[in-house]
Amino acid sequence: MPQGALDPDGAAGEVVPNIARIRHLWLGGDRHRPDDGEMARRIELCGPHIPYLVREQRALVRRQVRFLAERGITQFLDLGSGLPDQGYVHHTAREVNPESRVAYVDIDGSIASDAAALLEGSANARFVVADCRDVAGVLDHPDVRAVLDPTEPFAVLMTELLLHIPDSENPEGFVASWVEAMPSGSYLAMSHFGEDDQVLEGFQIFESLKFGRFPRVNLRSRERVAEFFTGLELVEPGVVPAPLWRPEPNTETVRNPAEVRMYAGVGRKG
Ligand SMILES: C[S@@+](CC[C@H](N)C(=O)[O-])C[C@H]1O[C@@H](n2cnc3c(N)ncnc32)[C@H](O)[C@@H]1O
Repeated sequence: MPQGALDPDGAAGEVVPNIARIRHLWLGGDRHRPDDGEMARRIELCGPHIPYLVREQRALVRRQVRFLAERGITQFLDLGSGLPDQGYVHHTAREVNPESRVAYVDIDGSIASDAAALLEGSANARFVVADCRDVAGVLDHPDVRAVLDPTEPFAVLMTELLLHIPDSENPEGFVASWVEAMPSGSYLAMSHFGEDDQVLEGFQIFESLKFGRFPRVNLRSRERVAEFFTGLELVEPGVVPAPLWRPEPNTETVRNPAEVRMYAGVGRKG
């Protein structure tokens, strides 16, 4: 079963949805299948605020990418990208610099054809199916090399990727190996779900209703997320709830931004 698939169980029947396409649906995209729609409804029933958090996350990525592009970054490597939807990394970076280049990497081969269709006509943006735990394998991939020169500074994005890397796989070591591969002047941008009681409760309700089995996710505290930036210069305001990471004036956001347990940060390699 691909990494992004939700594992159907018991009363859930034969519903075989995909987490990347469900997120795409919540972000207003139209490349979902009936099973994705059905699972999205089940998740919404148990965790009604989850689609809203996903949209908040997308707004964060756009702010992070704009920030990086305005600081002269022209190469972006989005690890665990999901689908390159409308308004995602390549669109945002090119609003600042039309020459920006983006490699999207995801382990889930079942979204490759949708990703290719979304990138059609987008020169300098590629979607690559690869396991980003293999740092050298990603950086040496011909489609990554086509748009990214790893000897020049680049930005690595990890938006809810570490959620999929359990402690038993040493996520700190994983992040450190990426930081080691980045030349000086590069950036790491991240967001990571925290131990949100409502999200945890939603998972429990979901399982008790036999709606299916959620993919194993690893929620981490703000302190743990901050530790991932060890060895990097943290950009102001540090690791904070995502809505508080350099919010733009006059944008609609959650009413309780400080209480959102979804943490964001950007660090620079000196
Ligand atoms: C929660 S989604 C985030 C999608 C996207 N970054 C966004 O902001 O909408 C996490 C993605 O990471 C991918 N993923 C999980 N483990 C991975 C790995 N080892 N290598 C590459 N991608 C992975 C999953 O397939 C999934 O699409």
